[in-house]
Amino acid sequence: MKQYKIVIATIITLIAIITAIALKPDRQDQSNVTTSSSMDYAPSSEQTARKNYQNYCASCHGEQLQSFVDRKWQFGNSRTEIRDVIKNGENNAGMPAYGAAFSEKELNELTDLIMGVIENDPELDFKQNMKPKETIASEEMDYSLEMVVDGLESPWGMAFLPNNEILVTDKYGTLYKVVPSKSKTKITGVPEVQSGGQGGLMDIELHPGFETNNIIYLSYSKIKDGNGLSTTAVLKARLQENQLTDQEIIFEALPYLPTRHHYGSRLEFDNDGHLYLSVGDRGRRDENPQSLDNHCGKIHRINDDGSIPEDNPFVGNQGAKASIFSYGHRNPQGVVKHPETGLIWTHEHGPRGGDEINIVEKGKNYGWPVISYGINYNGTVFTDITHKEGMEQPILYWVPSIAPCGMDFVTGDRYPAWKGNLLVGSLRFKYLERCVVENNKVVHQEKLLKNIGRVRNVKMGLDGFIYVAVEEPGVVYRVVPK
Ligand code: HEC
Repeated sequence: MKQYKIVIATIITLIAIITAIALKPDRQDQSNVTTSSSMDYAPSSEQTARKNYQNYCASCHGEQLQSFVDRKWQFGNSRTEIRDVIKNGENNAGMPAYGAAFSEKELNELTDLIMGVIENDPELDFKQNMKPKETIASEEMDYSLEMVVDGLESPWGMAFLPNNEILVTDKYGTLYKVVPSKSKTKITGVPEVQSGGQGGLMDIELHPGFETNNIIYLSYSKIKDGNGLSTTAVLKARLQENQLTDQEIIFEALPYLPTRHHYGSRLEFDNDGHLYLSVGDRGRRDENPQSLDNHCGKIHRINDDGSIPEDNPFVGNQGAKASIFSYGHRNPQGVVKHPETGLIWTHEHGPRGGDEINIVEKGKNYGWPVISYGINYNGTVFTDITHKEGMEQPILYWVPSIAPCGMDFVTGDRYPAWKGNLLVGSLRFKYLERCVVENNKVVHQEKLLKNIGRVRNVKMGLDGFIYVAVEEPGVVYRVVPK
């Protein structure tokens, strides 16, 4: 009897094991479709994200996430901002809202999936990390980095004061006065800015006569009351102690638009006291850059009080905006005067590929979006021509896009081997590009400061050092030659 019981117990146990083995694959399959409560069978977060992506996103953004591979974020590049675009949509750009379709966890997972595609670009993964104070070798010269100020979010513009202090704008709306390696103080009286997406408090430039008049200029994305519209504007103000006084808006790009990207915003004075400023196409590439009746997708030239120089190219041209100096630009975020020729050099973000450097000349058309070396983010081609009569060729273009931001020429005697070179920041690949220039052509390029962080700006200080601003975390460094 005892033996009989043991045999039955063994048979039952065997049946249970066999059943468990037989059912296991089914349960696994099911767990991919429904959500299983058992941790053993729950799909990984990445699997869920990929599945959601295929079901909800692939039709517009590509099966392989193609549309994110070579992207410069239009609506902000932080994890939170990207997640918010997925959650709330971008109505004006045609991006639906998914807040109702996904849980917070699923939204975060999708965000990580998309951001991962960009971070994993093997082409320009430098496998090298910058450490301040360490000596870094480069083709012509060894150097190290010195921290000038940290604790910022996204330092955008820099202006060097005669007393060696630095004015630094932080994109999210703060202006700081920095005593290098010592302190930073907030300046009051800064205008309210639209700091979502690519907008915010952007560039800063001193009046050429700053030493006697204390006048500064700020560019920013200005909000129109109550209706969600914004534009690129320039504020002129006097810096008194730690306060901006005598404020006056001397330029406002028209029209105001609901989009939140391509504000441009670099400021630069030429040798004749004209203020140049860039305005991007505001995401309306088919309406704005080729038409002279609006300010977007242009480089403008104004006097120091905002009035229009009489010899601007479209003065007297009915219907044209008289401040326009050149047109057919996409989103220029580098504008600098050549130290010897006095000519104005610009660079601009291309679409997917096709970032450009140009020397802008009076009245000329730089071709966007009729000619371009880039393609759309989603991989489709919007133009297959790169040349056209009446449109200028860039002096250099980048494929893939480096997402250029900020630039300056190396001057002074601290960096003899780099003297006259053009330095360009790369947001996307987190380095500084050194361009050797001969007869207005770039004849050699080198990548410096690899992995330093997303470079927002690079400028020569009055003390002859190169200053580099990187974002998230926001830090300004000084490049010290060895
Ligand atoms: C009906 C088409 C469509 C679908 C479906 C769609 N999107 Fe978009 N999405 C767009 C468009 C159009 C834009 C704006 C233009 C662009 O950036 O390509 C955009 C922009 C975005 C951006 C912002 C990119 C930037 O540059 O800042 C993110 C992130 C994004 N989509 C993620 C997703 C995710 C995740 C899904 C699926 C849950 C999704 N999209 C589904 C059309 C779509």
